[in-house]
Amino acid sequence: MGRIAYVNGRFVPHAQATVHIEDRGYQLADGVYEVVGVRDGKLIDEVPHIDRLDRSLRELRIAWPVSRPTLGFIVRELMRRNRLRDGLVYMQVTRGVARRDHAFPSPAPAPSVVVTARPLNKARNEALANSGIAVMSVPDNRWGRVDIKTVGLLPNVLARQAAIDQGARDAWFVDQAGTVTEASSANAWIVTADGILVTRRADHAILRGITRTVVFDEVKGQGLAIEERAFTLAEAYAAREAFITSASQIVLPVVRIDGRSIGDGKPGPVATALRREFYRYAEAG
Ligand code: PDD
Repeated sequence: MGRIAYVNGRFVPHAQATVHIEDRGYQLADGVYEVVGVRDGKLIDEVPHIDRLDRSLRELRIAWPVSRPTLGFIVRELMRRNRLRDGLVYMQVTRGVARRDHAFPSPAPAPSVVVTARPLNKARNEALANSGIAVMSVPDNRWGRVDIKTVGLLPNVLARQAAIDQGARDAWFVDQAGTVTEASSANAWIVTADGILVTRRADHAILRGITRTVVFDEVKGQGLAIEERAFTLAEAYAAREAFITSASQIVLPVVRIDGRSIGDGKPGPVATALRREFYRYAEAG
């Protein structure tokens, strides 16, 4: 059975899933997206992801392409058609197809909607979590509204590639004040030498990750000390542990930053426990 995608009202073979050349997502990155994890056939945190999609659409003044319940139906039908048990659902909504012009087209075209599903290699992801990853810091040169989950990801793409070119796996963005904002497609965390978890406050400088919120609640529930504030790169180098959170990577330990070992250079107990705890939460539904 081949992969199936959903494009503007139709379920189609993945290889034939196309949008028009004048789709504003393609020409102008005028669109938003969400990535939702699937574990044991269940969507993880569907409601907050769709709430965030709604917020992103409102921020860009793009109308909902279908109703919320219809999107929920499309996603489930796509999972069924792809027999997705463990993987990711990607959904993207753009302002639609119009003659190229920076201003919003008038009248507004029908927004385009694309949904894809893909399996994750669980064994490979667990191996990565067991070894931890190296990250490299890069200047945060993104626009001022990265709290909106838009498909305009070129700085993230270039940052990730710069990290890979230097033998790391991901990049951590650092702002002009020298504090870490987030990773190229995940939120950044440290555990200080005193055992305090620190992650940046969710303002306009980072995406308010859904995984970040769940982990935040887990941490509080366990009575661990947590501070929601900016931390410097120097603090990160001196941290006992570091990790990133996202729908695709859950909780992934960071063991090296800019070539310096974090803690003892191995995934730490806090990140490891939070990852385990997240899976329990996801499987419970
Ligand atoms: N990225 N920060 C950025 C810049 C992100 O792109 C993401 C998610 C996150 C974490 O958000 P969440 O926990 O809701 O996944 C933070 C997705 C997974 C992606 O672009 O593939």
